[in-house]
Amino acid sequence: MKICSTVKEVREQVNAWKKEGLTIGFVPTMGYLHEGHRSLMEAARKNNDKVVVSIFVNPMQFGPTEDLESYPRDLEKDAKVCEGVGVDLIFHPEPEEMYTEGFCSYVDMNGLTTELCGRTRPTHFRGVQTVVLKLFNIVKPDNAYFGQKDAQQLAVIKRMVTDLNVDITITGCPIVREEDGLAKSSRNTYLNADERKAALILSKSLAIGKELIEKGETDAAKVKKAISDNIETEPLAKIDYVDVVDFATITPVDTIKGETLVAIAVYIGKTRLIDNFIIG
Ligand code: PAF
Repeated sequence: MKICSTVKEVREQVNAWKKEGLTIGFVPTMGYLHEGHRSLMEAARKNNDKVVVSIFVNPMQFGPTEDLESYPRDLEKDAKVCEGVGVDLIFHPEPEEMYTEGFCSYVDMNGLTTELCGRTRPTHFRGVQTVVLKLFNIVKPDNAYFGQKDAQQLAVIKRMVTDLNVDITITGCPIVREEDGLAKSSRNTYLNADERKAALILSKSLAIGKELIEKGETDAAKVKKAISDNIETEPLAKIDYVDVVDFATITPVDTIKGETLVAIAVYIGKTRLIDNFIIG
């Protein structure tokens, strides 16, 4: 397994593979890899000749008061995880390699990014789209894999690829959970023991909403209320949002029909966690 830190090195390797007619699967990450990332890499491994993983904590997608500095990093451990799955190349650039002097071009979107996380993180998706398109242009994959845990990000990337005619197939992979139901996230490491217990309120509250829908409830407001009421029983939890939106457009719906995303963001202490389910 190669570890490259420059665009030039990655391009040379990728071009050599392309000349041999090999397909490339790509998993973009910010590192501190867990089972969720592993499932993406395994999907890439299964369906492509070569697998590239990027590990880059992208400054552009963090707001000024967010956790860029404290975001957990462990390249040595990440490299072992990648090696275990049979990854062929890790791209681990420094910020200066990705954002060279004078950088001033961005990818942005009018729809999809204003609701859910976009409300409290107004510049986040511009940073995500910009870095993902740059990574796509560097790695030139045939297939790219994203987790459904970041469902809004998945919808945004799918829209971007369609709108900008990017010739890459985007695959969304299911949320991977701890045994007790907490969705895997690199940010779970911020939780102390009490917060870790309290964090279960996310998956438990979503389960209540899901059950209601499965029993036939189609009123989005009722589902939102049931989820919110349950989250509010946990003293350490503070709701950022509980929303029901159309998955493709990320616009709020009143009636649940078609592919619908039920998504929540909740502060547990100072840590903001997200979780969701998609129905239909
Ligand atoms: O999901 C993430 O880890 C990041 O948003 C991504 C897609 C790697 C872009 O920095």
